[in-house]
Amino acid sequence: MQGLFCLFLLLTASTVLALNQSSPRCRCLYGDACWPSTSDFSSLQSQISQPLIYPTPTASACYPLSSPSGNCTDIQANWYNGTWRADRPGSMDITNYESFIFRNGSISACYMNTTLGAPCEQGNVPVIGVDARSVGDVQATVKFAVSHNLRVAIKNTGHDFTGRSAARNSFMLWTHHLNNITYNSTFAPEGAPPTETYDAITVGSGVLWNDAYNTVAAEGRMLIGGISVGGSTGAAGGWLQGGGHSTFSPLHGLGVDNVIEIKLVTAAGEYLTANARQHSDLFWALRGGGGGTWGVLISVAYQTHPTFPVTNVFFNATSTNTTVIKRLFTEFVRIHPALSAASFGGYATVTNASLNFFYSLPNGTDARANASFESVFGLARNLTAEGLEIAAQETGTYESFNQWYQNIPATGIVDGGILEIASRLLPTALFAEDEYEAFADKLFTVAGNEIGWNLVGGGAVSKVNPGSTGLNPAWRESLVEAVWGIQWGEGATFSEIERLRSELAVTMAQVSAIVPGAGSYFNEGSLFEPTPKQTYFGSHYDRLKGIKDEYDSTGLFIVGAGVGSDEWVDNLNCRRFD
Ligand SMILES: Cc1cc2nc3c(=O)[nH]c(=O)nc-3n(C[C@H](O)[C@H](O)[C@H](O)COP(=O)(O)OP(=O)(O)OC[C@H]3O[C@@H](n4cnc5c(N)ncnc54)[C@H](O)[C@@H]3O)c2cc1C
Ligand SMILES: *[C@@H]1O[C@H](CO)[C@@H](O)[C@H](O)[C@H]1NC(C)=O
Ligand SMILES: *[C@@H]1O[C@H](CO)[C@@H](O)[C@H](O)[C@H]1NC(C)=O
Ligand SMILES: *[C@@H]1O[C@H](CO)[C@@H](O)[C@H](O)[C@H]1NC(C)=O
Ligand SMILES: *[C@@H]1O[C@H](CO)[C@@H](O)[C@H](O)[C@H]1NC(C)=O
Ligand SMILES: *[C@@H]1O[C@H](CO)[C@@H](O)[C@H](O)[C@H]1NC(C)=O
Ligand SMILES: *[C@@H]1O[C@H](CO)[C@@H](O)[C@H](O)[C@H]1NC(C)=O
Ligand SMILES: *[C@@H]1O[C@H](CO)[C@@H](O)[C@H](O)[C@H]1NC(C)=O
Ligand SMILES: *[C@@H]1O[C@H](CO)[C@@H](O)[C@H](O)[C@H]1NC(C)=O
Ligand SMILES: *[C@@H]1O[C@H](CO)[C@@H](O)[C@H](O)[C@H]1NC(C)=O
Ligand SMILES: *[C@@H]1O[C@H](CO)[C@@H](O)[C@H](O)[C@H]1NC(C)=O
Ligand SMILES: *[C@@H]1O[C@H](CO)[C@@H](O)[C@H](O)[C@H]1NC(C)=O
Ligand SMILES: *[C@@H]1O[C@H](CO)[C@@H](O)[C@H](O)[C@H]1NC(C)=O
Repeated sequence: MQGLFCLFLLLTASTVLALNQSSPRCRCLYGDACWPSTSDFSSLQSQISQPLIYPTPTASACYPLSSPSGNCTDIQANWYNGTWRADRPGSMDITNYESFIFRNGSISACYMNTTLGAPCEQGNVPVIGVDARSVGDVQATVKFAVSHNLRVAIKNTGHDFTGRSAARNSFMLWTHHLNNITYNSTFAPEGAPPTETYDAITVGSGVLWNDAYNTVAAEGRMLIGGISVGGSTGAAGGWLQGGGHSTFSPLHGLGVDNVIEIKLVTAAGEYLTANARQHSDLFWALRGGGGGTWGVLISVAYQTHPTFPVTNVFFNATSTNTTVIKRLFTEFVRIHPALSAASFGGYATVTNASLNFFYSLPNGTDARANASFESVFGLARNLTAEGLEIAAQETGTYESFNQWYQNIPATGIVDGGILEIASRLLPTALFAEDEYEAFADKLFTVAGNEIGWNLVGGGAVSKVNPGSTGLNPAWRESLVEAVWGIQWGEGATFSEIERLRSELAVTMAQVSAIVPGAGSYFNEGSLFEPTPKQTYFGSHYDRLKGIKDEYDSTGLFIVGAGVGSDEWVDNLNCRRFD
């Protein structure tokens, strides 16, 4: 007892010595003595347009078990619906990010599976927050967070694959209802000469891709945006800032290549317009420097493109003979430069027993699309004699982007699932005639676990000057993004999760050895990357950090593996001692 008390005094003394009033080492968290009082929150309440929100984990309405506090049937019916999740401040799309793992291995969570008998706990879900609807709401929220030294979690849809939109005992700034949409065929950026106009859509930072697509479809236009059933990722939050890719990025570039202007509130509470002429340093950083790092986005203007017909090629094949799949995969890899030259984009999955893909050709025809895959289809037919089963082979054309988007198949990502992933951007050079075979061979050795394969690079993505945006330059010289992950069930223990994480680390090391120095996509990556600065930002890191220090010197906006995050420890709540 006495020993503990001495330790307490020692810690307190050293903390006081290391710190001063103006910059405490740690953020003030819910439960700490410094947490704002009821009257502090009342004063915040008087400055904002909506009632303060008290986010709860998705399944909380199913508890207490004996008499649920809400409609648990509704929770169960919608659990796997990403749009429904985005409507709820406490819901994360990947549900493990609603949970929190203590240092001793205990897990604070609220499981949908009530049969597990675990209590419903708050976990990683912020306890209180603001449902921002205006610039003024955001400014008041930021000023409140600064003056009380709070840990802020900016949440849009909650789709982040590393849980960056939640933080235990933090204060949430929810952007979901900043949902204005304006289409303007002669949009003029602020400060630009009147002759410089764009066919553009301006979306509030809470708008979902589905709504943005539908708005421009009515004008015969399309957008470069996230692609998933239901379109529930955010059009102007983390997707954009992390680098956001589309099936049609090979045709029209990444999200960061299509943005014209961004309006945001900075850590100082200032409402700024960032574009090529105003705050161009910040505009550079916002295009690839990662969400939750630069300020709170209010709205984003994107250029639109004329819509076009889209031809899909679906193909699924399986075999119990690994060699057969490897031969087919190798041929699939070989034709990638040609597919890229034809502007194909799409998604594949490969395991040692299957190759499935769904590739799309803009402005194509069935005949042209089939011609591009002739050698793969021909080889597959031949390989049926050696045990290949072709489960699906279909080609079809939709007349517009939106018709296509509304009919895309479900991908491997399951909204409401449990998942941790890692990724590598595969350099275009590896697909060269004298390289591809050895490369395919090596990559296939790690395909016992499923590898997701996204053809979203090359083409227009590679034609942009790497220095013109803050995005990881690795994107500009890569063709395919390879993604893989681990999954577990609700109620898994910390040791089970740790075992899976070590498997993920092994795969990460294996893939890194195959593509040494390759980058990774910030939005589809791991918090356990050994060298995150280099892997996520490459040579742009130092310039990004300089801009970060200029606009957010106290680190109000810090997210996992984000710019400046290495200066923080203890779940990013405390500054590292130097
Ligand atoms: C079902 C699904 C499909 C996906 N499809 C694609 C795809 O096709 N292409 C692709 O590139 N990626 C895709 N992703 C990955 C996606 O890019 C990331 O999940 C991304 O983080 C989502 O951003 P968000 O704003 O919607 O989510 P959130 O989780 O709400 O936010 C993500 C990050 O951005 C920050 N942020 C959010 N809003 C703001 C704001 N207004 N101001 C400042 N910071 C903000 C948050 O703090 C957090 O750090 C998909 C993910 C899922 C789950
Ligand atoms: C308080 O700490 C900050 C950051 O470490 C430093 O810049 C500042 O000078 C310190 N102020 C005082 C009065 O020591
Ligand atoms: C509960 O949710 C289900 C499914 O969404 C719905 O059908 C039902 O009407 C709801 N019940 C009540 C009492 O609201
Ligand atoms: C998903 O949820 C949204 C929002 O609640 C709803 O409009 C939509 O119909 C749901 N989709 C499905 C497939 O249930
Ligand atoms: C683990 O730590 C948490 C937080 O300090 C505590 O609430 C919990 O009781 C601990 N669990 C065990 C098994 O010690
Ligand atoms: C819920 O948990 C119980 C107990 O572990 C298990 O038997 C059951 O299969 C789980 N249900 C689902 C849907 O995962
Ligand atoms: C949204 O649009 C309305 C109506 O034009 C406008 O009054 C409001 O300021 C806009 N909100 C934001 C955050 O831009
Ligand atoms: C479109 O932008 C132009 C140029 O900024 C402006 O004059 C016009 O009013 C805008 N139109 C709409 C519908 O907002
Ligand atoms: C697997 O297929 C290869 C040819 O692709 C063949 O040489 C080999 O014998 C097959 N193995 C088995 C076990 O059938
Ligand atoms: C599609 O083809 C039409 C007609 O040839 C052409 O005008 C248009 O630019 C093409 N669009 C794309 C995206 O290639
Ligand atoms: C399929 O097998 C035939 C007959 O052996 C051969 O002529 C043809 O080149 C093979 N096609 C492919 C794409 O491997
Ligand atoms: C192809 O396989 C995927 C799973 O990878 C599945 O979702 C899809 O339904 C299959 N497509 C066809 C046309 O069989
Ligand atoms: C294929 O991958 C599975 C899953 O990792 C593994 O169990 C199996 O041994 C692999 N098969 C071969 C032939 O490598």
